[in-house]
Amino acid sequence: MSNPHSDALVFFGATGDLAFKKIFPSLHAMAKRGHLGVPVIGVAKANYTLDQLKERARASVEQHGGLDPAAFEKLCGLLRYVDGDYSDPATFQSIRQQLGSARQPAHYLAIPSAAFELVVEKLAESGCADNARVIIEKPFGHDLASAQELNRLLLGTFDERAIFRVDHYLGKTPVYNMVSFRFLNAFLEPIWNRTHVESVQITMAEAFGVQGRGAFYDQTGTIRDVIQNHLFQVLANLAMEPPVGTDSEAVRDEKVKVLKSTQPLTEADLVRGQFRGYRNEAGVQADSQVETFAALKLEIDSWRWKGVPFYVRAGKCLPVTCTEIVVRLRQLPTMYHGFDPKRNYLRFRISPDIAIAFGVNIMGTGDQTLSESVEIMASRHPGADEQDAYERVLGDAMDGDATLFARQDYVDEAWRIVDPVLKNAAPVHEYEPNTWGPSGVDQAILPPGGWANPMMAGAQERSGSA
Ligand code: BG6
Repeated sequence: MSNPHSDALVFFGATGDLAFKKIFPSLHAMAKRGHLGVPVIGVAKANYTLDQLKERARASVEQHGGLDPAAFEKLCGLLRYVDGDYSDPATFQSIRQQLGSARQPAHYLAIPSAAFELVVEKLAESGCADNARVIIEKPFGHDLASAQELNRLLLGTFDERAIFRVDHYLGKTPVYNMVSFRFLNAFLEPIWNRTHVESVQITMAEAFGVQGRGAFYDQTGTIRDVIQNHLFQVLANLAMEPPVGTDSEAVRDEKVKVLKSTQPLTEADLVRGQFRGYRNEAGVQADSQVETFAALKLEIDSWRWKGVPFYVRAGKCLPVTCTEIVVRLRQLPTMYHGFDPKRNYLRFRISPDIAIAFGVNIMGTGDQTLSESVEIMASRHPGADEQDAYERVLGDAMDGDATLFARQDYVDEAWRIVDPVLKNAAPVHEYEPNTWGPSGVDQAILPPGGWANPMMAGAQERSGSA
């Protein structure tokens, strides 16, 4: 089936935060690469003029990546603006007009999900949804039932193949490279299973707090904000079987299977924390029980992974900002007297730098009866010219390539796994900012060999026994 390129992009929420931080910079980068040649219609209710929107686009690009005069001029030449209320049919008539001869537009709903229903309904009534794609942002609902409800709403107007659910983590180079790394390298497959892997840890640490998003965060919490979506996508990339082809559905089928084999979370396998000071953030309830940290243990009951624990940990106000995965291999029986070989491991770093490293044992340089743990590593910092995750997913959605988007059955499965603990939330424990979560976390949820906290300087020395 051919996927025609969208012949216009309409983005709702044009004067909003997401547009400022991500969409304008991505459109500018696409223009710079010569990948943008269709009308771009911003929509918002802000009493803006087109010139004001261009000024906002300029400020956005200057603050997020830097402005290239030729690319910016190109973007401005394509930019249109419709100012209007989303409940007003006239707004959608104006969009229709601005679409001109475009027959296959993509509508990007960069707006709060509470407004999705209204916008989708009006897109349908005005004919703007005919032959169109729709791009939506997480959260896709706030639990299983609401996600299914959202989906029913979208499917009332759009075909599943025309719905692009953005999880920007999927657009990150090291996240999708993880899949190619696994399936392009012969040495990995023989050890990538329960016989050789002892445990897997996924850590997403952020050294900052809720950054003015208190009202949003207090409705959301860490599990909904980053674990159920971003980190489950990472988990699926690590654990999936080789797809039968490279088309989007073959890949997405395998990812769904991983989640289908994953047991629902129980309270016993979860620790929730909240950093001290969170309750003083604007928009946060004074007695909030929302977590800003969560550590959990998952089990994947598949032929490959049965019995291998997968640990997932994420939090705000932790000591570093870093997303990293550590796959520990089972320990060898000690063959040499006096040696204490550490577990071998494979480490993927997703951000801030990109790295793949193997932890290996070598003979110590000083005392020859001791082994030393060192890393063999390939790493780099993302280049200035590297496609940003948003640029990649926006381009893919306009190309109709769904590989890097969450399919509905996947979203449902992800909610199924976390739903039990969302309903019966485990107690939330306070932790000091700049620490690795509540003090008891490593007693309650303890990977064999302990948590491997990401180290930010040098790769030779690793904490604990990674
Ligand atoms: C977002 C979350 O989806 O992802 C944020 O809402 C989080 O809370 C962010 O900080 C992390 O993404 P990135 O790409 O900035 O690491």
